Amino acid sequence: MITLNDVKNSPQVVNFINQTERAMTALHYTNHGLRHTNLVAERASQIAKGIGLSQREAELASIAGFCHDMGNFMTRTFHHYYAALLFHQIFQHEFEPEEISTVMQAIANHDKEEMNFSHSVSSVLVLADKSDVNRTRVTEKDINKIKLDIHDKVNYATTESNLKIDKTKKRITLTLKIDTNFCPIMEYFEIFTERMVFCRKAAEFLGYEFGLVINKFRLL
Ligand SMILES: [Fe+2]
Ligand SMILES: [Fe+2]
Repeated sequence: MITLNDVKNSPQVVNFINQTERAMTALHYTNHGLRHTNLVAERASQIAKGIGLSQREAELASIAGFCHDMGNFMTRTFHHYYAALLFHQIFQHEFEPEEISTVMQAIANHDKEEMNFSHSVSSVLVLADKSDVNRTRVTEKDINKIKLDIHDKVNYATTESNLKIDKTKKRITLTLKIDTNFCPIMEYFEIFTERMVFCRKAAEFLGYEFGLVINKFRLL
């Protein structure tokens, strides 16, 4: 049975992710390379286990997490679809049909406008991906340029970012620490309101409430 480690050791997957990182850096985007994909893979596994999905579902969620952005080197706009199809091309002979379609659907779903869910693995991936906001994601080094790009600015201002799962209270909470001297919280919502709506919908599908705490204030 193919594992996350097998996928991480696929030279083709690693190459697609590294190509993606170069393409995103050229577009002045935040990190979409191995830093992001490793974190999303780990967070997906943490969420899946935290809400009590099976060991294998947690593995599939982390595999989807590792591969979800690898289509960005071909196109930003449809990267989620390309990544899903690339995944199929690489691994079609190595997964059971049910498993590969679950991973493909999760990957394709993670940035779709019509965000609806029919599988827990897809919901877990959305929560893992959309909660990755952090200073360590900013690739730009020039602080003056960081201030001019709202995505860089919000990420740079976010010095702590954690996702906690409370199985008893049925709540998944994203806790952020934002340096408000560098970036007003309003700017976070200016770019991330849609992401937070995606997280709420994903959590709802799993039977959970989504919470957001910024600088110790509960906002959701
Ligand atoms: Fe993406
Ligand atoms: Fe992503």
